[in-house]
Amino acid sequence: MHKVNLACIVGARPNFMKMEPLLLAFESYPDVNPVLIHTGQHYDANLSDVFFDELGMKRPDISLEVGSGKHGVQTARILERMEQTLEDGTAGGQPYDRVVVVGDVNSTMAATLAAVKLGIPVAHVEAGLRSFDRTMPEEINRIVTDSLSDMLFVSEPAGIENLRREGHADEQLHLVGNVMIDTLQRLLPQARDRNTLREHNLQPGQYGVVTLHRPANVDEPEVLAKLLDVLVETSGRLKLVVPLHPRTRQRIEDFGFAGKLANAPGLVVLPPLGYLDFLALTSQSLLVVTDSGGLQEESTVLGIPCLTMRPNTERPVTVDDGTSTLIGSDAEKLARHIDQILNGDYPRGVVPDLWDGRAADRIAKVLFDDA
Ligand code: UD1
Repeated sequence: MHKVNLACIVGARPNFMKMEPLLLAFESYPDVNPVLIHTGQHYDANLSDVFFDELGMKRPDISLEVGSGKHGVQTARILERMEQTLEDGTAGGQPYDRVVVVGDVNSTMAATLAAVKLGIPVAHVEAGLRSFDRTMPEEINRIVTDSLSDMLFVSEPAGIENLRREGHADEQLHLVGNVMIDTLQRLLPQARDRNTLREHNLQPGQYGVVTLHRPANVDEPEVLAKLLDVLVETSGRLKLVVPLHPRTRQRIEDFGFAGKLANAPGLVVLPPLGYLDFLALTSQSLLVVTDSGGLQEESTVLGIPCLTMRPNTERPVTVDDGTSTLIGSDAEKLARHIDQILNGDYPRGVVPDLWDGRAADRIAKVLFDDA
């Protein structure tokens, strides 16, 4: 019988924990042949390799090694190399029946564009999310990817409404839950068994975790200075662990802000962490301060208060039902909410429907059983 040949695309850090549960779910379908293609958008060991090791994920079958660049350059390189790769077909010379993309990074959008131009249908996992803020590169990636994909797998109800409003037919839309939470559920016990807290001299519930990497927060010196000042001030009351994304580290050096961090004894500045160490830290923290979309979702499931340093979110369920509060770049609001958390007055959230560790199984069922 003809195998179903899938090109499964990953490129940047947040893609790996979303693709791995899909690859696991596809294993139950012997007639499905998933070929894993890594664009190389992220290439550093601590942004890429460590996730393959820790998630137990198979190594990419094909690596495009596009590397970093301005958006146009990076997107163009992925398009050029992906088109050829998809045209070449599988190792056995079979054509691809479908491309599967996850999330909203440049690799997601560029792979989708290459595929549809070749007439290969695309399934988008984590479709329909909208911040309605077109200054965010990811918002452009989401809009383009969704408009070109024929199967749209959605993690929260707002995504279904957004896609309907944009004219997608109901048959294309599947509310399946959140694949990233599949990985969290699977690996949480392993993460909690690690020595991470002891290594950094931290006590459960007595520290916060901070991640900042969005261009809107870190690319303008005035904005970044203000955010760092808030962190330094906060660290006098609560120890803060800050794993620094390479973009943020670079900006801190470029703007001459390294001294601000070095002089704050309550700040524990670290390189980017692997999946398990990071989950060990977030799951036992008192609070999270972040501009990451994925971390808003993970905090919600872990029941950890999440102060989101963005004026908007494409993941409204994390605010409406979960533990996230939108802070924007408002230092006073951040301080107020930290007090609220320290006083034990922060509202508790609930875990959204279908964020139960079974999203990838639902997706595989739609792709292969219901076809
Ligand atoms: C990308 C995604 C963002 C995601 C983030 C997670 C886009 C538009 N953005 O942002 O949605 O939240 O990944 O990390 O796709 N760099 C390294 N090592 C690497 C890769 C990059 O040092 O392995 C440095 C380079 O200087 C590069 C910069 O980081 O220019 C930014 O990398 P890039 O992939 O363009 O965007 P991210 O900020 O990582």
